[in-house]
Amino acid sequence: MLSANMLNYYVAFQILGVVILLWLLNRTLYYIYEHTLEPIVFPRIMKTFARVYNSRMDRVKRQLFSDLSNLKKAVGSQLTILEIGAGTGANFKYYPDGTSVIPLEPMDNFGSYLKDNAKEFPNLTVEKLVVAFGEDMKDIPSESVDAVVTTLVLCSVKEVTSVHGKYYFLEHVGGEKYSVGKFIQHLVQVPWAFLLGNCILTRNIQQSIEEMGFSSMNCQQIVAPLPLPLYPMLPHVVGFAVK
Ligand SMILES: C[S@@+](CC[C@H](N)C(=O)[O-])C[C@H]1O[C@@H](n2cnc3c(N)ncnc32)[C@H](O)[C@@H]1O
Repeated sequence: MLSANMLNYYVAFQILGVVILLWLLNRTLYYIYEHTLEPIVFPRIMKTFARVYNSRMDRVKRQLFSDLSNLKKAVGSQLTILEIGAGTGANFKYYPDGTSVIPLEPMDNFGSYLKDNAKEFPNLTVEKLVVAFGEDMKDIPSESVDAVVTTLVLCSVKEVTSVHGKYYFLEHVGGEKYSVGKFIQHLVQVPWAFLLGNCILTRNIQQSIEEMGFSSMNCQQIVAPLPLPLYPMLPHVVGFAVK
């Protein structure tokens, strides 16, 4: 006969075993998804998503990127933009004529989407996709770009190092502490990250940008005019920064 104490230990070990098994199963399934389906599914989702997002955020993007024309005049020659996490090339339509764009992406399946999209903008020179992570951009010569752009990328990037030139950003961010918005972000985090390239909803992106060591920064917090299913990503920051 098992004593009551032994029985408790036995049940506790069984529960622990089940939890570990479920965790291992989850990790294994995610690993398989990440290396098989995700590179096919995620760019497709992003193509549709970018269309909806651009239509709702057109005014915000136009205002942000209008400054690129001033930068182009100041540079005096061809403007070169490094776009980190360029995705399907949703921002190409906002770049001034004659701009050279270096798209950087960790997922090379975005390459064909970028190429197709580039055909619609013969006014730009879209360079070959650099397959790399924002955390490791050693293939980009540090002084070779005039501007760096990220839109909806810092939610997936742990740390962006060595950003040179003027940095333009439009990013969704974590909601206010103890707000309904933040609660919902936590609630939907797991499936959201699964479908949207490991996007973390609750990150304090403004702080991450501040920690990149810019000498000046112009950052506005806005509520994005997005449809209800995108409620968890309504809080945004938009602006630019210089070293
Ligand atoms: C939500 S999508 C945004 C794409 C595009 N910037 C846009 O606004 O439509 C996030 C993009 O960041 C890329 N990404 C994810 N992790 C990254 C990393 N560590 N470094 C650079 N890009 C990354 C993804 O592959 C994806 O293309």
